[in-house]
Formats: sequence, C-alpha cells, structure tokens
Amino acid sequence: MKILVTGGAGFIGSNFVRHILREHPGYKVINLDKLTYAGNLENLKEVEKNPNYTFVQGDILDGKLISTLLDGTHPAANNQPPTAIINFAAESHVDRSIEDPASFVKTNVLGTQVLLDCAKKGTVDRFIQVSTDEVYGSLGATGYFTEETPLAPNSPYSASKTGADLLVRAYHETFGFPSLITRCSNNYGPYHFPEKLIPLIITNALEGKPLPVYGDGQNVRDWLHVEDHCRAIDAVLHKGMTGEVYNIGGNNEWKNIDIVNLICDLLDERPKVLGQPQGTAPTRSLIKFVKDRPGHDRRYAIDSSKIKKELAWSPRYTFEEGLKETVDWYMSNREWWHRIKSGEYKEYYERNYLRR
Ligand code: NAD
Ligand code: DAU
Repeated sequence: MKILVTGGAGFIGSNFVRHILREHPGYKVINLDKLTYAGNLENLKEVEKNPNYTFVQGDILDGKLISTLLDGTHPAANNQPPTAIINFAAESHVDRSIEDPASFVKTNVLGTQVLLDCAKKGTVDRFIQVSTDEVYGSLGATGYFTEETPLAPNSPYSASKTGADLLVRAYHETFGFPSLITRCSNNYGPYHFPEKLIPLIITNALEGKPLPVYGDGQNVRDWLHVEDHCRAIDAVLHKGMTGEVYNIGGNNEWKNIDIVNLICDLLDERPKVLGQPQGTAPTRSLIKFVKDRPGHDRRYAIDSSKIKKELAWSPRYTFEEGLKETVDWYMSNREWWHRIKSGEYKEYYERNYLRR
C-alpha cells in the first residue's frame, strides 16, 4: 500500500509514520507537511533514510501540488499514486485558536476541502480524517461521548475540526467518496510539542519554571498513549467501513491538577531510578494556578466500544507505564525540546502566559 500522510512531521503524524513503516515493512509513505512551528523533521530522523519513506514540504491548501502527488506525476510519487490518505495536518492548539482563529479555518476547514477535492478525482480508495473528541463539546460530571453525540464545538479549534468533519461526511454522502473519520481523546507520549499540558509541565519542571494550571484545575481529560492512537488508526485503515465514524479513547479520565501532581511526583522520584542528580525542592512547589482558558471545556470522556467491538482494537499502555516512559523520554531528550523552547515558542509563551 502507498499512503499519503499529511502533517506527518507533527506529534501524532510522526509517531504514525514510524509506526506504519515498522509494522508494515512493504508499505510506502509520502509525508506532506508544511513545517509550521509544530512540524519538526527531527521527529523523523529514525526513518529519513528508509527507502519506503519520502518527505515533501508543502501545504494541504496547494491543490496543484496535491494533484501531482495523487496522479503520480510528482517525483516523490514515482509514477505510483497513493491509494490511501491520512489527514493529520492541522492547527492543533486550542489556546492559539483563541488568538488567531483565521489560520485554523484556513488549514483545518479549507485545507481539508482542497484535499478532498483532489482526492475524489484520483485513485484513492480510503481517506481517513483524523479528528478529535472536542467536536462533541463538553460533558458534565457523568456520561460519555458516543459517535451519535451531537456535535457542539466550543473553541475556534474544535469548530474548525467540526467543519472539516462535516465536509468529509458530505463528500461521502454526495459523491460516494470513501472517507472515514476518527475522533480521539487527548494523546500523550514522545515528540509531544511542549505547548500542550503534559510536555509543558514536564519541561517547565525540568527547567525549574512555574507550572501553570488553568482555572481551578478540575477540568477532566481522557488520556491515551500516542502509540495506541496510531494502532487505532492502523485498524481503521485496514478494517474500518467507509462512511463511518470511530471514537478512540483511553477510558482514562484525569483531572488536570491530579496529572500535574503525578508528574511532579514522578519527576522527584525518576532521577533516583535513572541515577541522575536530583533537585532539592519538591516539584509540586512550582505549581501556579493561572487565569482560565476562555470557553474551557469541563470534561471529555470517550466511549470507544464501537472500535473495540467492530475492529478489535484496545489500548496496550497503562497510564502508569506510559507516563513514566514519557517523563523519561523528556529527561533523555533535552536537546529536542530545548531547541523548540528557544525559537518561535518563546514569543508565544510570553504572549500566552505572562498576561495570565
Ligand atoms: P501537531 O500540531 O503536533 O502537528 C500538526 C502538523 O501539521 C505539523 O507537522 C504541521 O507542520 C502540519 N501542518 C499544519 N498546517 C499544515 C498545512 N496547511 N499543510 C500541511 N501541513 C500542515 O498536531 P498533533 O497533536 O500531532 O495532531 C495531529 C492531528 O490529530 C490534528 O488533526 C489534530 O486535530 C488531531 N488530534 C490531536 C489530538 C492530540 O491530543 N494531540 C487528539 C485527537 C486528534
Ligand atoms: O481532546 C483532544 C484534543 O486534545 C486535541 O484535539 C487537541 O489537538 C489537543 O491539543 C488537546 O486539546 P486540549 O485543549 O485538551 O489539550 P491541552 O494540552 O492544551 O490542555 C489539556 C488540559 O490542560 C486542558 O483542560 C487545559 C489545561 N491546561 C493546558 C495548558 C497548556 C492547563 O491547565 N495549563 C496549560 O498550560
């Protein structure tokens, strides 16, 4: 199989590219990525020399480029058009969408429409839209999002992802286009960009910086290891029914403050385990409650029974082992996040956090 992966230099996309090349050695992958602030080719060092992997820098809004990739005439396609597309490319951070909604509409809505238009002319027999549980809005203290939960997005980010989902659905209904949608909960794991909660807390703590917790810290997210998300997309690619939506989640709900406390405790314990020098003050002393995110969704919780039952998927990681591994990864890959935190990120961080 030859797959066009978009956004493959980001957090989940790069984990997926490594997953697919490892698990399916005969498959070929073209990774189309614009390399925005969130795209990083360092994430793919492990596969850059793999003959089955090709990188193309480009925008999903560039219909001409995409058409040449899909008809095989682009040199990267080598006269062999891809038959599957997995669309990870997106602006993905809720806080940035509050600052600049337009870039989210451009990439997430218009970009998806351009991809769909190009793909429906070609030989693609599977198009997976990588979506999010945030399209369902927010839950109260009980209940779960199912695939039938009405769409009720609350942030510009989730509204733009919902717009994309509705276009994907419409192309299936109107043109019989072979699309599928996955809606996953919060991912964590290696190569997670340090603007997001878990890597931000780990890296700030390692730098002795304040650990910002929004509002009262009682908001709940359902965390899933990124490799389990990649395995779920792999299952949808091979066994999913076109026109269907599949929810993916970890059945692993955590209040933000409890996760932050857990990371602090792991960071106090890990140097002993790894034989590294240890700080003196307990890391929890760095926690700082800051102004809440506007429109902050209170609780997400996913019902994944459909993908479990129909595609025989289930998570392999326990949160305990996954989070320990993740903390260790950030402790052993300081260069990776130091480089990120000293670039454009620094200006964003100052804009977003120093005014809170
Ligand atoms: P990310 O921000 O880490 O990566 C996004 C990637 O897309 C980057 O490599 C970026 O360069 C690329 N990109 C952005 N605009 C582009 C454009 N116009 N053309 C081509 N490439 C472009 O995001 P992520 O966390 O890896 O999320 C990947 C996808 O999964 C997104 O669609 C997101 O909505 C979805 N998702 C994320 C999570 C999560 O917890 N991170 C959960 C569920 C769904
Ligand atoms: O649910 C899936 C979504 O998860 C994906 O669609 C998004 O792309 C991804 O970014 C993520 O969105 P969240 O807004 O849930 O993730 P984030 O890591 O930004 O925040 C997680 C929780 O932590 C949320 O309740 C806000 C809170 N938070 C976040 C940051 C960055 C803090 O308390 N402090 C922070 O500094």
